[in-house]
Amino acid sequence: MPGFDLDEFVLQLRAAAREDDAPKRVRALMTEAFRDVDAVRGAMSGFSGEEEVLFEDDRVSIWYCGFDPHKHVPPHDHQTIATIGVYDGVENNHFYLAGDNGLEHKSTRRVEPGDVIAIGPNAIHSVETADERVSYAIHVYLAPLTTIERSLFDWDSGAAMPFNDDNYARLERSSVK
Ligand SMILES: [Fe+2]
Repeated sequence: MPGFDLDEFVLQLRAAAREDDAPKRVRALMTEAFRDVDAVRGAMSGFSGEEEVLFEDDRVSIWYCGFDPHKHVPPHDHQTIATIGVYDGVENNHFYLAGDNGLEHKSTRRVEPGDVIAIGPNAIHSVETADERVSYAIHVYLAPLTTIERSLFDWDSGAAMPFNDDNYARLERSSVK
């Protein structure tokens, strides 16, 4: 099927999310769609700003996300599997372990247009735009993300705290030095 139809894609993701092997199916759908990243970018051209929930029910939460240049989303978990596909700009995803001595940086994954990554429920990551461009992505979570309780983590101490607007605003960083 040539092209990318967002409404159709959301229907496919909703169906996949209800299957026993939902993580695998969602990842396969995302990987297949993002193979034609130009078509995804074209279909998503009407979206701007930081985020928008495209669909959510008890099984799946599908988001548009646009991160401004040098924005650094603070360390957080998802408490569900997150599958992320970037269709424009570049994100650096930094992964951490929370230990007695605070957050320990484990690895960084550069995610470019057409790349799809899956992140486990307990993984902790921060997300930083890599350059002067906005990064644009579709995020798929296998749970109703707006209602589940998840955590943000203090940059220095690694202490977990509720993921809410106040904590997010306090921890958000700009990567401009
Ligand atoms: Fe995340």
